[in-house]
Amino acid sequence: VHKAIGDQLTCVYVDTGLMRATESEQVEETFRRQFRIDLVHVKAADRFFEALAGVTDPEEKRKIIGELFIRIFEEVARDLVIESSERVGTDAVRPSGADSTESAVGYLVQGTLYPDVIESGSDSAATIKSHHNVGGLPDDLAFDLVEPLRLLFKDEVRAVGEELGLPPEIVWRHPFPGPGLAVRIIGEVTPDRAAILRAADAIVVEEIRRAGLYRDLWQCFAVLPVVRTVGVMGDGRTYAYPVVIRAVNSDDAMTADWARLPYDLLERLSSRIINEVDGVNRVALDITSKPPGTIEWE
Ligand code: XMP
Repeated sequence: VHKAIGDQLTCVYVDTGLMRATESEQVEETFRRQFRIDLVHVKAADRFFEALAGVTDPEEKRKIIGELFIRIFEEVARDLVIESSERVGTDAVRPSGADSTESAVGYLVQGTLYPDVIESGSDSAATIKSHHNVGGLPDDLAFDLVEPLRLLFKDEVRAVGEELGLPPEIVWRHPFPGPGLAVRIIGEVTPDRAAILRAADAIVVEEIRRAGLYRDLWQCFAVLPVVRTVGVMGDGRTYAYPVVIRAVNSDDAMTADWARLPYDLLERLSSRIINEVDGVNRVALDITSKPPGTIEWE
């Protein structure tokens, strides 16, 4: 989009508090230093945790997150209008799309893929889950949507990315859902539970990379269930969460096969997660393909 419209583009990164470890720094680095594109970085963790407090239903979580994303984009758009009207005479006001009296920003560009559209349901297809960027969007959206990748599957998107010369670490990054860790934290999403999952997830990805398997897998990550189980550590009893390892192979996310990870890797994952992540006393492995499971747990 930046190649097409240059400075008319404003990139917005919303830190929901549900991102992976060091993700915010990586996004900043990629946009500002590699692409030399300015980025509005909105730190909105408190707002997301507040909106999600007490919510356990997966679809409700997705809709809350989808709506809050849009409200934040609307706020950023309003701030841009104020800024540009303060600069009148020295700088051009942004070209507008839908409603130029409300906002000088007419369009929201997002990276919706075809599986997001299919799984969010339609008159003829069941809703599997409301992807935050499709079924999770509020009805009163203040922007026209621009979705250049909407009809493409991920393997096709990667081909486009390579054609455009994007860096390999961006093209080959594992997919990460918009609602982020929220759909991997079963039950209530709290800052403490997010911190547990983020720490476990970082170990999973680090060890998978170290084993040279990152590029071979479609996705690998950790999931935090709602149950706690009894364990024994040192001389004492523990009553803490298990962490579930999820690793899958897939071409397009519509179907997936659980990955046969080597035993020595699983052993390292188990011992590191239990030793390094407070609040976890057990590690389990998800051996469900899609169907019947979906890739994410919610
Ligand atoms: P599932 O869990 O349905 O996921 O098998 C299929 C692929 O989509 C990703 N995913 C999402 N991506 N917004 C996104 O941008 C979402 O709300 C969302 N939900 C799931 C998931 O990580 C997998 O790659």
